[in-house]
Amino acid sequence: MTALLEIDDLHVEFAGAGAPARVVDGVSLSLAAGETVAVVGESGSGKTVTALAVMGLIDPPGRIVGGDVRFDGRSLVGLADREYRELRGRELAMVFQDPMTSLNPVQRVGDQVAEAITVHQPDVAVGAAGLRAIELLESVGVADPVGRSGAYPHQLSGGIRQRVMLAMALANRPRVLIADEPTTALDVTTQAQILELLANLRREVGLALLLVTHDLGVVAGLADRVAVMYAGRIVEEGSVDDIFSASRHPYTRALLAATPRIGSKRGSLVPVPGVPPNPAALPHGCRFHPRCALAIDACRIEVPELEPVRSVPPASVPARASGPAPAAVPPRTASSETAPDPDHGLDPGHRSACFRADDLS
Ligand SMILES: Nc1ncnc2c1ncn2[C@@H]1O[C@H](COP(=O)(O)OP(=O)(O)OP(=O)(O)O)[C@@H](O)[C@H]1O
Ligand code: SF4
Ligand SMILES: [Mg+2]
Repeated sequence: MTALLEIDDLHVEFAGAGAPARVVDGVSLSLAAGETVAVVGESGSGKTVTALAVMGLIDPPGRIVGGDVRFDGRSLVGLADREYRELRGRELAMVFQDPMTSLNPVQRVGDQVAEAITVHQPDVAVGAAGLRAIELLESVGVADPVGRSGAYPHQLSGGIRQRVMLAMALANRPRVLIADEPTTALDVTTQAQILELLANLRREVGLALLLVTHDLGVVAGLADRVAVMYAGRIVEEGSVDDIFSASRHPYTRALLAATPRIGSKRGSLVPVPGVPPNPAALPHGCRFHPRCALAIDACRIEVPELEPVRSVPPASVPARASGPAPAAVPPRTASSETAPDPDHGLDPGHRSACFRADDLS
């Protein structure tokens, strides 16, 4: 598949009182038209900063210190503000993590959607943009779009505000949509509706969707591929089926073990031990080693390299939820629960996912 969006060895730092914090550290990821890639990881792993870097929205004291972002083959890092503004909202759009901080509290939501149209399409008359805004609100499932378009953000529920954000993001029919935790604050029903909407858009208009989320259930229902981020890096990447049924990295496994699954017993969830590291004082070697039950001495020294997870035979891949909003992560197969290799606490697949295998042999 040809990539529409390519993130290539991206590095982002935030300057502070001490050493700069490298919060995104060599992230590479690609996204094709019609594809959904989910980025998952604990709080602070760098998901939003990666998304903001793609959108050209890293402000001082943050800056991109390395790598590139390419859209349709065009390099975006270093693009002049004016050129980025033209692209943003037209070709690349983002739904932000917190709709309340992204919507203007003193402007009616219909006007905000209409403005999102006229900014990029100045030829569209104000009246026509207003009508189009109402159509957009209706298309994202806002009931009574005429009435609601006259409301201010604080007069609307979280679910409606999220839909308004989505209407704004879709106003100019972007080719790439970045949705940062689009459903976190929503009830289950609204969450399902928003996810179904995104799935339809992807099918009908070939939207490329970069989905940032904590919620592995959302990933299972909507994504094609998953990138697992930890402390500014992608530690494992693979198809949804591979990640759920044959993940190799201990961090991915720990995240899955901490996530409710269909049929999981009460008390069977195991939280990931410890806390993520401070990006201004990252551990040497593998950044996960202070929390990893499989760590050996070499992990404190070596920086592991990422390799794709091995594909599993189709027979052992669990059925994916067909709807857009599964209640929980699909069950893993016995193969992913295999005990680690007793000789050094790692199975060969894991070694290829997170080690320089040669250094350990
Ligand atoms: N403006 C900023 N100034 C300084 N540090 C920042 C800034 N924005 C983000 N960071 C730091 O960058 C790191 C990554 O933050 P980011 O918001 O990308 O995390 P996240 O993975 O999106 O987390 P969450 O799941 O909580 O949304 C964090 O350590 C955060 O404190
Ligand atoms: S490299 Fe070592 S510490 Fe890091 S995840 Fe693998 S086993 Fe754990
Ligand atoms: Mg975030």
